Amino acid sequence: MGVLAGLDVGGTKCAVSLGRLSGSDIELIAKESFPTPPGPADTIAAFVRTLDDMLRLHGGGRLAAIGISCGGPLDSRSGLVLSPPNLPNWDRIDIVSPFRERYGVPVGLQNDANACALAEWKWGAGKGCSNMIFLTFGTGMGSGLILDGRLYSGTNDMAGEVGHIRMEEDGPVGYGKAGSFEGFCSGGGIARLAAAMAAQKLERGEAPAFCRTQEELAGITAQSVSAAAGQGDPLALEVFEIVGRQLGRGLALLIDILNPQRIVIGSIYGRQQALLEPIVMEELKKQSLPLSLSVCQIVPAGLKEHVGDYAGLSVALNELNA
Ligand code: BGC
Ligand code: NA
Repeated sequence: MGVLAGLDVGGTKCAVSLGRLSGSDIELIAKESFPTPPGPADTIAAFVRTLDDMLRLHGGGRLAAIGISCGGPLDSRSGLVLSPPNLPNWDRIDIVSPFRERYGVPVGLQNDANACALAEWKWGAGKGCSNMIFLTFGTGMGSGLILDGRLYSGTNDMAGEVGHIRMEEDGPVGYGKAGSFEGFCSGGGIARLAAAMAAQKLERGEAPAFCRTQEELAGITAQSVSAAAGQGDPLALEVFEIVGRQLGRGLALLIDILNPQRIVIGSIYGRQQALLEPIVMEELKKQSLPLSLSVCQIVPAGLKEHVGDYAGLSVALNELNA
């Protein structure tokens, strides 16, 4: 078989990966990224230029298939990117046809979290599972559901949009909805929650380690809160306590509904596992059915911070095997 190409369409950054199957594993041959151009036409053109260059340098023959991974909502059957919040100028853009016409190979499109789920299932921490769930827990919160040995994407590709689930009447905003799962459990959510809690402290004349003044409130990031938590700052630890509880409650819902064998969690979970795992497990013991919990492992992504590099490649492989 020739090489597989994976295209990752992100709000700030786009990336192209080339990979080659070796047995049931994959070898990543090359990866290039570029800042996302302002509109869809320029973005598609930049993908074509990058892919052409990479194929010339590393292709070593035939391109076998292309997989595209993009934040939802999208329509995988017609290859349309609908109107993802992170791509403001995109509205019903056919992202599949331009590549199918130019390269003459199978081209597939998938929700980014679904694509990551496929990648972790084939090559990462989900290997060998019939029922596994992947949670992105990065900039946003999305999930991909592998059920009975295949990707479950729902009636119109909206399955697994767990970030929208409302956990509390009030709380940090995700998707314009206060108190949603993404509002608590995402990079942006952590920053907003920490800023709200820091603002209260500042009003009382206390200064948390990650934010000494009113002016610093806007600069709070999930990374700065994580660093402060690592140094034992009480407020940062309190933030992660809340995030961990909400993560546990969200996982309990998924476990009770879907009875998975493994839940694989990306980005932030891998970096903060020592802090989050005990809180999550305590919450799970309180919230989920013991028989379901007893068969479910909660683990960080096996492909670590590189899941995204493999996401499009797994969609390409899926397309070949379709
Ligand atoms: C989107 C999901 C996506 C997730 C991770 C959410 O904002 O609604 O479709 O999977 O972010 O990027
Ligand atoms: Na999804």
